[in-house]
Amino acid sequence: MKEKRSMFSGKLGFVLAAAGSAVGLGNIWRFPYLAAKYGGGIFLLVYLILVVSLGFSLMIAEVAIGRKTKLSAIGAFRKLSEKWKFLGYLASVVPMVIFPYYCVIGGWVVKYLGVYISGGGLEAAGDSYFSDFIAKPGEPILWLALYVGLTAVIVFFGVQKGIEKASRVMMPALVVLTIGVAAYSVTRPGALEGVAYYLIPDFSRFSVNTVLGAMGQMFYSMSLAMGIMVTYGSYMKREDDLEKSVSQIEIFDTGIAFLAGLMVIPAVFAFSGGDETALNKGAGLMFQTLPKVFADAGTLGLVFGGVFFLLVLFAALTSSVSLMETVVSIFQDTFHWSRKFTCTLVMIGCFLLALPSSLGYGLLDWVAPLGLSILDFFDFITNSVMMPIVAFCTCIFVGWVIGPKAVSDEVKLSSKFPREKLFVVVIRYVAPICILLILISSVLDTLGIAAI
Ligand code: TRP
Repeated sequence: MKEKRSMFSGKLGFVLAAAGSAVGLGNIWRFPYLAAKYGGGIFLLVYLILVVSLGFSLMIAEVAIGRKTKLSAIGAFRKLSEKWKFLGYLASVVPMVIFPYYCVIGGWVVKYLGVYISGGGLEAAGDSYFSDFIAKPGEPILWLALYVGLTAVIVFFGVQKGIEKASRVMMPALVVLTIGVAAYSVTRPGALEGVAYYLIPDFSRFSVNTVLGAMGQMFYSMSLAMGIMVTYGSYMKREDDLEKSVSQIEIFDTGIAFLAGLMVIPAVFAFSGGDETALNKGAGLMFQTLPKVFADAGTLGLVFGGVFFLLVLFAALTSSVSLMETVVSIFQDTFHWSRKFTCTLVMIGCFLLALPSSLGYGLLDWVAPLGLSILDFFDFITNSVMMPIVAFCTCIFVGWVIGPKAVSDEVKLSSKFPREKLFVVVIRYVAPICILLILISSVLDTLGIAAI
């Protein structure tokens, strides 16, 4: 096992790769609908506080563990403590549950791209267009298959190099276009109310679920609590500034999510005529409001719509490629199967596992675990249950088993660590206590027992 581990070309390589994995549908699709649902400004505030405290500390810890051990999650935790190797396995299950339903949403994005290219942008702005589409049994599955196939081809042929080059152009383009669409959205008549809803916290809307929702979203968006950042850290060089890289990824990821919220939420207000229930559309919010924004802007808007969905597709693909790569490499490392076989198996497995999530809005809409659609159920189980558990265990592991010093020492190999105190306090006390309280109260809540 003395094989040399390939390394990123430098700090920029690491930041770009990690940002490519972090920035995806989580930022553009998931963040706005959660912010709309959980009270706008108050959600944004809680989210930002979580990013600079818990998110920062966890990402530092995960990247440092990876860089220290030069192993991905399963091996890394085992190497640091035989007793805690379960944590590596637990973390690795998360991407396997996320990947299939991520592809369902990816399929919807491909569909919308197709609609805009074929000139159907106006129809897509219709009120029931989206709900009619996802309720069909066959069509969403076709787009899902296309999306899974696309991801698998990229992973199989390993054209990541090309992807890396393309993302240098596409990612900035996505930022520019998002700013443009956000500017258009907030200047629509009636949109200012939405801007206020999004930016001004209303403390009466605060609840434990706001925190749980924001925390799950933060893990999801920054690809934390699933071993991904451990793997990325393992490819990082000793000399590259770890703290600065983590800050840059956080700023980039949070910036895009913030802009996506600004693009979607004011538009909901502008196009629903102040109807508050429009905020509660859940997973379909982006697909329902953005087409209205594009249609409102005339022919040019429809062109922008096409370009926009292309860029979203790209951001989604960079994320799902790294999701699939993770799953493939876990299977390869564990069972020593060939790459071709593993890729095919993961592709077929993902497609089959995604079917219920896709059918959950039509044929299978009578299956409603915990009152949620199947896709929302998987989303809930991973983001609101599994990831908080993994994050809690990681905090205990770093704070009390190997000790925060193990991580600080690793960080200090490459730079000063000005936020070391914050890191130690958060990882040892604040984070584990908060996560535990939130988890307990949300479980009670789900079981119907009145919580705080
Ligand atoms: N962070 C990604 C996003 O915002 C989604 C994601 C979750 C992910 N887990 C991942 C991407 C693991 C790559 C690897 O869309």
